[in-house]
Amino acid sequence: MRLARPIVFGNWKMNGLRADGLALAGALAQRAVRLSGTLGIFPPFTILHAVAQRVCETGILVGGQDCHEKSFGAYTGSISAPMLVDAGAKAVILGHSERRHGLGETDALVRAKLLAARAAGLLVVLCVGETEEERLAGVHEERLWAQLDGSLPEGIGPEGLVVAYEPVWAIGTGRTPTSADIVATHAAVRRMLARRVVGGDAIPILYGGSVKPDNAAEIMACAGVDGVLVGGASLDAAAFWSIYQAGGGA
Ligand code: 13P
Repeated sequence: MRLARPIVFGNWKMNGLRADGLALAGALAQRAVRLSGTLGIFPPFTILHAVAQRVCETGILVGGQDCHEKSFGAYTGSISAPMLVDAGAKAVILGHSERRHGLGETDALVRAKLLAARAAGLLVVLCVGETEEERLAGVHEERLWAQLDGSLPEGIGPEGLVVAYEPVWAIGTGRTPTSADIVATHAAVRRMLARRVVGGDAIPILYGGSVKPDNAAEIMACAGVDGVLVGGASLDAAAFWSIYQAGGGA
């Protein structure tokens, strides 16, 4: 199934107690009666089910921010892909830099999680991105290739897969690459996906990192950008909705 453009996903990260999260979901649900694009929200696990119920009469997609690579078992504190589905999730973010860099997740682990998520029928938002040092050293494309090559299982198809390019140095910093750099990097990721995945041309590529209402139109107008993955600004319904509108969504 082709996801309608723009694709605008909100990663709430570790934010959202029940009352706030449900108020935010409710405010979005009021706006999102009939969607021309694809709008998704990724609340914390604790309120995922309640949020999914709150938006179930809309087209808003709800997802988890991570999943374990095994389905069930003695893995204290972990949440599996079938559990996400059971809670109402249709998607999952994998390989976010806050897990790769903050928690030491390797490409091999992300690949195992990706297989588990696809087996459970979840849409996977696979995140990749270079650090500032890698960008300054001009090795960002090598880094992105290594992450994609290492995180994508052999023989995977394009179905149920979205890639989010999130430069680590742009996340939560208020800094973004220039439009020219976004176009060039998305073109590079596009070539990598075509090389690595049969039918990889069909995989949407999102940009993530300090997307705000005032830069969203310029970012989403960049060639090769199918949408955005929003962190901080997705915690405000009006800001998140205006980002979606800036990408042409109604
Ligand atoms: P910010 O939009 O807060 O920079 O976060 C981006 C991000 O990490 C989305 O996954």
